[in-house]
Amino acid sequence: GPLIITNKDEMRLWSRSMRAQGNTIGLVPTMGFLHDGHLALIRQAHARTHLTVVSIYVNPGQFAVSEDFSTYPSDIRGDVDKLRAVIPGGVDVVFNPHNLYDYGGEGEERESERVCGGGSAVSCVEERGAGHETWVRVEGLEKGLCGKSRPIFFRGVATVVAKLFNIVEPDVAFFGKKDYQQWRIIQRMVRDLDFGVKVIGSELVREDDGLAMSSRNVLLSPEDRKKALSINRSLSEAKSAAVKGQVDCRELKNLVIQAIHEAGGRVDYAEIVDQENLEAVEEIKGAVVFCVAAWFGKVRLIDNMEINV
Ligand code: PAJ
Repeated sequence: GPLIITNKDEMRLWSRSMRAQGNTIGLVPTMGFLHDGHLALIRQAHARTHLTVVSIYVNPGQFAVSEDFSTYPSDIRGDVDKLRAVIPGGVDVVFNPHNLYDYGGEGEERESERVCGGGSAVSCVEERGAGHETWVRVEGLEKGLCGKSRPIFFRGVATVVAKLFNIVEPDVAFFGKKDYQQWRIIQRMVRDLDFGVKVIGSELVREDDGLAMSSRNVLLSPEDRKKALSINRSLSEAKSAAVKGQVDCRELKNLVIQAIHEAGGRVDYAEIVDQENLEAVEEIKGAVVFCVAAWFGKVRLIDNMEINV
């Protein structure tokens, strides 16, 4: 099975010695509770690089205090068993750090108890410790879509991915288009900060019934799980309407918003944006992506569909 590394220095040492021997390294960053969407990324990494590192780390830096950090599903043993069974020999290292924001200062941890408990614009400082104050922000791309209701989310994502790049020093890193905005933000960060990492975007993987795979799907009640199919179903309808010539984005968005609403979901946003710069478009032309976030019960789901006309 894979080597399990929990220590940052040990991780970097392993990578450097493997690269010195001429190996290329692929990194698949995850928060664990692995499903077939993750496995597709891992298979790609295995196919394209000599050695594959899968990081499993639920990053407190990307959750606001009001969000689901404490209920985010996790099963590290199950994950490692799954990797061993499903992709034998496909993963060389599972990097599973305890706390990536622990720099060994004691006074800082005491301070963190006071800092936590603020509004939703504060990330979960109690979990990560208050000793950290450097953040990566991709200022334009992080504003829209998920950034509107989760204002510190992409700051946390970009920062932890930068940290993982600096610790693992991969040649190639793999991201899913399920999290379309996240993928674009990481690409932009890599370009703007000259990371020597190639970023690969991988197709969204769905369940047989069309629901976009997500670690959060297990948190849905059976009823909400059924209601949530309205997202993919209405996105598909909007896409075929667009392909047939309906170019008015207001009409297409209404179609999706109504379908999700009627199914019993609460729409956070439904936006049709340019695939590259993620800016809203009014008429479908060229390469766009229809992005949706919606609540079913206490679970927030995202999904999207690329439309090329
Ligand atoms: P996580 O949600 O675990 O996802 C890890 C990777 O798997 C991301 O690149 C995500 O886009 C991809 N992925 C998840 N579901 C997918 C699906 N149904 N189809 C294709 N790819 C899918 O995204 C994160 O973790 C975190 O934000 C992270 C990047 C690890 C930083 O903490």
